[in-house]
Order: sequence, then C-alpha cells, then structure tokens
Amino acid sequence: MIELKTPREIEIIRKNGRILAQTLKLLEERIQPGIKTDELDRLAEEFIRKQGGYPAFKGYREYPNSICVSIDEEIVHGIPGERIIQEGQIVSVDVGVLKDGYYADAACTYPVGEITDEAKKLIQVTRQALENAIGSVKAGKHLSDVSYVIQSFVERNGFSVVRDLVGHGIGKKMHEEPQIPNYGMPGEGVVLKTGMVLAIEPMVNAGTHEILTKDDKWTIVTSDGSLSAHFEHTVAVTENGARVLTLNE
Ligand code: MF3
Ligand code: CO
Repeated sequence: MIELKTPREIEIIRKNGRILAQTLKLLEERIQPGIKTDELDRLAEEFIRKQGGYPAFKGYREYPNSICVSIDEEIVHGIPGERIIQEGQIVSVDVGVLKDGYYADAACTYPVGEITDEAKKLIQVTRQALENAIGSVKAGKHLSDVSYVIQSFVERNGFSVVRDLVGHGIGKKMHEEPQIPNYGMPGEGVVLKTGMVLAIEPMVNAGTHEILTKDDKWTIVTSDGSLSAHFEHTVAVTENGARVLTLNE
C-alpha cells in the first residue's frame, strides 16, 4: 500500500529536505583534490546533528557511515574511508536526513576540477534526466511514465540506466512503496496521487547497465568499469506537478 502524506507531514519532510540540501552544499564546497572521503562523512554527520537531525543511513542495515561517497565507476553505496579525492574524478554523494519521524533522501554527482568531456556529459545527462522526470510528475499520470522519461532521455544520449536499483516512496520509512524503476514503458502500473512522496533517483552508466557489488558488500560498481552518475530528489506529488522537497529554500 502506498501511504499518502498530509500537508503537515510534507512540511516536515520539506524542512528535513532543506537540512539535506544544505548538507550537500557544504560538501560540494569541500569536494576538492586531497580531501578524504571520511572527512566528508564527518562534516555531514556533524552538520545534520547540529540541525537536530539524524544521518539516516547510519546503522541502516548495518551501514557504517552517515553518507555514501561513490567515485567514478562506483554507482552508489560507496563507504567513506581513507580514500583521497583526486582531480579528474566524479564524486556521487548520497545523503539521508531523519528528523521528527520523517526521512528525506537526495544525491548529487560533482566533478573534481577538470574532468573529461564524457564525464561532463554523463553528469549533465543524469541531472537533466532527473529534472525531466520531476517535470513529468503529476497526479493522475502513471508512475511508469516517469520511468519512461528517464530511460528514453538517457538512452537517446548514448548512456544506460541501472536496472537493478530503484527509486522509492519515502516518509516514516526511508524505503516505502512504490518502487520507482529508472526504465519502463509509459501508461503502466501505479497511478500517481496527490500526497505521494517519492525519492526519484536516476543512476546512469556511461557503458553497460550491468552492475557488481564489491567485496566490502556495499559498494556497487559498473561491471565494465565505466563511469556512473547519480542524482536524487525527494518530491511530493500534487495536482499541478511535483514539489521538490530537498531544496535549500
Ligand atoms: N540513499 C539510498 C537509497 O536511496 C539508501 C542508502 S542506504 C545506505 O535507497 F545504507 F546504503 F547508505
Ligand atoms: Co533513495
């Protein structure tokens, strides 16, 4: 069952989403050659706690850290540690905030200094895929219409969407129904309703859509070693479209 949220609940998620967006902004400024990924983790945890929130990933299925930092061919769930960020990399940061009983979830991929043209295009296409998806959300439309928008835009640009990982409903739990694949045919399945809150999160690979899990049991990488980017927002469905809840405003 898909739980619809009241305006009051959506307001709580929006406030948490603002803390989250501020966290990402703070991290963006620090993603520079020479910084260790666990320094980013510490900065994020400190900031979220100072705002009265809890870093939602910490302890989730025994995940050890507060954020995920996934570099280059790492798609998602990279565990912060001693690794040092280098010029030319692309760094995906995924953050969750839990406060007042509700979750917000968002992610962004950042370039480090000068990156290749392919990496720039990958980031741009993934960001635009999320924007197009958000632009397609509206009460009365099918969920698969949103999935179709993501897949068709990404593939038209010569990249592939990850199929084995999905976006999700979000609220009192980080992962609620429905699952939101980043591929599909329009006009199928769930119909969007006002009050649904969704975490939409295209994961886009430069090469194959196939993935592997590393020996650390968390980090998910492209099976061909190609680059991957990830953008995510938490949004509320309304009659007039999507309201993005993970913005710094
Ligand atoms: N942000 C991820 C998602 O959207 C959740 C990561 S949970 C972690 O589903 F434990 F892996 F960090
Ligand atoms: Co998510």
